[in-house]
Amino acid sequence: KTIRVHAPATVANMVCGFDVLGFCLDEPYDVMTLTLLEGTSDIRIRHVDDHDLPTEPSLNVAGAALIALQEELETPVGFEVVIDKRIKPGSGVGSSAASAAGAVVAANHLLGGRFDPTTLVRFAMCGEKVASGVKHADNIAPCIYGGVTLIRAVFPLDIVPLPAPSLFASVVHPQIEVRTSDARQILMQKVFLKDAIKQWGNIAGLVAGILKGDKALISRSLEDVLIEPVRKILIPGFDLVKERSLAAGALGGGISGSGPSIFMLSADRATADAVAGAMADVYRSMGIDHHTYVGPI
Ligand code: HSE
Repeated sequence: KTIRVHAPATVANMVCGFDVLGFCLDEPYDVMTLTLLEGTSDIRIRHVDDHDLPTEPSLNVAGAALIALQEELETPVGFEVVIDKRIKPGSGVGSSAASAAGAVVAANHLLGGRFDPTTLVRFAMCGEKVASGVKHADNIAPCIYGGVTLIRAVFPLDIVPLPAPSLFASVVHPQIEVRTSDARQILMQKVFLKDAIKQWGNIAGLVAGILKGDKALISRSLEDVLIEPVRKILIPGFDLVKERSLAAGALGGGISGSGPSIFMLSADRATADAVAGAMADVYRSMGIDHHTYVGPI
């Protein structure tokens, strides 16, 4: 039995919701082909892309996620995994999460759908731990559930899928690499209460805006006073991209996950296209190679 899945890119944090909010993009996506191997518990991984990623299962994000899944099976089965990684590692749009999530979703289909989505997120988080050292779920959960997800708690997992608002995302990926582990290490470990109050006001406002379909409220709430001021130093041109995007009509946005990608939300596709053009112009003028994506969230 063989199955092929498309595991999409995701945007974690949604500006103010560090580690607790994320949404799914249409593209780019990893293409993963899994085959069930009976009578063995081997996991054989092959990459058919140009990325030099480990194929030893315990060191590979898909492999680590599948090992976690295997541990909860009574009868051992193995998997052959072929990964065409089309989401560039280190780009900030959930590359590692996509491979981990794609692997367990595909394996679950091959096993007749015995695990629920929350359990699949739990397995895939073991892959995320291999990649970044931390079991965060804000890329994995939207990759598996689609749309926007709130991760209210991680231990134990409490995932709240939110209805995706009718908004369009523009994403620019400047071709520099930011490692999530590095981008986490530089963060402040203590915050002032006045900043925390602003942050949770914004998270609550963003979730309320999504539930009510209130774009003005979403726009006001896309503000991050804790993480962005520290992390933006890792991303050349960040302030200019943001300024030009807002001038082009974006509702707001910020760093995608731990960067270096930057995302913006817009009310319609025409504005999102104009925003992507404005983002690309900044990097063109700086001589930095980049890619842009535009799509519904
Ligand atoms: N929430 C994580 C972080 C996402 O910002 O470190 C990483 O993609």
